[in-house]
Amino acid sequence: MKQAQQMSLQIAIDGPAGAGKSTVAKLVAKQLNLFYVDTGAMYRAIAYKALKNGILLEDELSVSQIAKTTEIILDHSEERVVWCDGENVTLAIRKPEISRAVSIVAAYVGVRERLVELQRREATRGGVVMDGRDIGTHVLPEANLKIFLTATPTERARRRWMELVKAGKNIPLEEVAHDMKQRDRQDIERKVSPLEPAQDAVILDTTGYSVEGMVAKIVALTQEDEK
Ligand code: CDP
Repeated sequence: MKQAQQMSLQIAIDGPAGAGKSTVAKLVAKQLNLFYVDTGAMYRAIAYKALKNGILLEDELSVSQIAKTTEIILDHSEERVVWCDGENVTLAIRKPEISRAVSIVAAYVGVRERLVELQRREATRGGVVMDGRDIGTHVLPEANLKIFLTATPTERARRRWMELVKAGKNIPLEEVAHDMKQRDRQDIERKVSPLEPAQDAVILDTTGYSVEGMVAKIVALTQEDEK
């Protein structure tokens, strides 16, 4: 790992939906006393705002214009409230209709430029664990440690389905698996900042691993000397 003072430590965690990024990233951040930055929440907030304003998701120009003037604030307390232009959208952005819409808006250059600007602004506040799709490849190319988290598609769909069931959503597993597959394909195939591991990323398959085991592994990687 590239050496850094804790204050400026940057850990990038990328990977497909349901790989366990946010669960692991939050715990690593807590353990190392770093800010956790959920970049997916920002893309979700833009999808939410576009839908709320009755904008067609396919209307790239209008969606990009909306993104340009949207202020998104990620609260760093335990509640992790997501504010979008002063509105608390924490729960609304997790709904399946937003999950289905988000990869469409995330493919737009205008949206990505605005959100990358906000994400880099977060990284100037101190050390961060940032998770997403393009953190190691684009947002924080100089990150001290880059992780690419993955798991089998079946396992990832099962995890996301469990999360939704726990949140009281009655949705068939097959539907979750189908939506996730489609979103992964959109994220991998898009032209701008597609989902792919950075060349210097450590690839970790979380299938069958406990969350604690993954967190311990990543924390240990931050403590390794520069090779
Ligand atoms: O939690 P989950 O892995 O399902 O997704 P997320 O992190 O909330 O991200 C939602 C969507 O935002 C992704 O499927 C991507 O389309 C987009 N995204 C992105 O393009 N780049 C990022 N850095 C983060 C998310």
